[in-house]
Amino acid sequence: MTTLAPALDLGQIQQQEQEYQLPLYAKREIALVRGEGAYLYDSEGKRYLDAMSNYGVAVLGHADPEFAAALSDQLAKLTTCHQSFYNDVRAALLAAIAEIAPDGLTRSFLSNSGAEAIEAGLKFARVATGRPKIVAARRAYHGRTLGALSATADAKYRAPFEPLPINVVHVPFNDADAISAAVDDQTAAVILEPIQGEAGIYPADDAYLQAARDVTTARGALLIADEVQTGFRTGVPFAISAAGVVPDVICTAKALANGFPIGLTMTNDRVSERIGGGVHGTTFGANPLACRAALVTLTSLKERGLYARAADLGARLTTAIEDLKSPKIRQVRGRGLMIGIELKERVTPTLRALQDRGVLALPASPVVFRLLPPLIWEEEQVDEFVDVLDKVLA
Ligand SMILES: Cc1ncc(COP(=O)(O)O)c(C=O)c1O
Repeated sequence: MTTLAPALDLGQIQQQEQEYQLPLYAKREIALVRGEGAYLYDSEGKRYLDAMSNYGVAVLGHADPEFAAALSDQLAKLTTCHQSFYNDVRAALLAAIAEIAPDGLTRSFLSNSGAEAIEAGLKFARVATGRPKIVAARRAYHGRTLGALSATADAKYRAPFEPLPINVVHVPFNDADAISAAVDDQTAAVILEPIQGEAGIYPADDAYLQAARDVTTARGALLIADEVQTGFRTGVPFAISAAGVVPDVICTAKALANGFPIGLTMTNDRVSERIGGGVHGTTFGANPLACRAALVTLTSLKERGLYARAADLGARLTTAIEDLKSPKIRQVRGRGLMIGIELKERVTPTLRALQDRGVLALPASPVVFRLLPPLIWEEEQVDEFVDVLDKVLA
């Protein structure tokens, strides 16, 4: 048995993935095999500036020495430990989460992905309120498990799987009156992204989030913030805090463990008290390896000042892109290092041209592309990105 990574060339990699994988993804033709800091390398040795951190996860960048050392250490100690036993690393992570949790969100459930974090949030809301209905926003993306998919709005994700198991009413985003009209005495929860991600980076207005808080409180429903994508990269741990709103549930994932699979559902005592033992669970969730990955990530975010850096670099990046004054750009929006660039044309050719020139970014809708870079970017990477974008848009 070999312990070496496989040495396959691009043709072999493509052929094997095409032959053996379910054809669910439209693939970019390169194979990424290595990363270092803010850069990724393909199988041919070409370097790319990473402006996507694998859909928003690798906040510390790639092959971070502290992250690698912590995981190696944990691998040599204990990797798996069911939650029916206590564990030292899990306990330390729960305490670290409590430190950054908004006031009152004292209880955590750890799982393995964003969709699982949402699934748990929806289940907890139904159990805690005894009500069946969920209100979500149009264009919302909450994940692909059947519960999370019920809350996801886009017909292209939903249609193949209908009928979906949860009754979800989708209302226009950033419209307080629409939420007020939809929430009734059968509503378990309103679920919202503080900045809609997949939809095209649309921030919720503070007043809208406050109205959602007020109407859910008044009518006995819960407010769930989906911070799977917004978590840790907008200048604060949770984007909804910027509006001064505390939800009943926060779901997050992606960046929490710098790319190691994890999901987190936080809630308050009022909800927690109504959730009985055995109501929900997971074999892999809260395993020591994932907990160690999250612990080193949270510690690094704090000690390296990466929340402030995300806010600062995000503002610089936004201004620099606006200053290009490209006639192709309609709007630049977002917060911290979660930025959407809306073009007056489809984004696919721009994303391809960026990739050809060594920059990887993501689409967020047909006409919006998204920057979710590692938070370890420096001004040098901002300049590099803007320089390449300038050439590509010209
Ligand atoms: C806002 C939001 N919620 C939920 C999810 C689902 O997360 P996962 O893909 O880890 O299941 C995503 C993924 O992109 C997301 O952006």
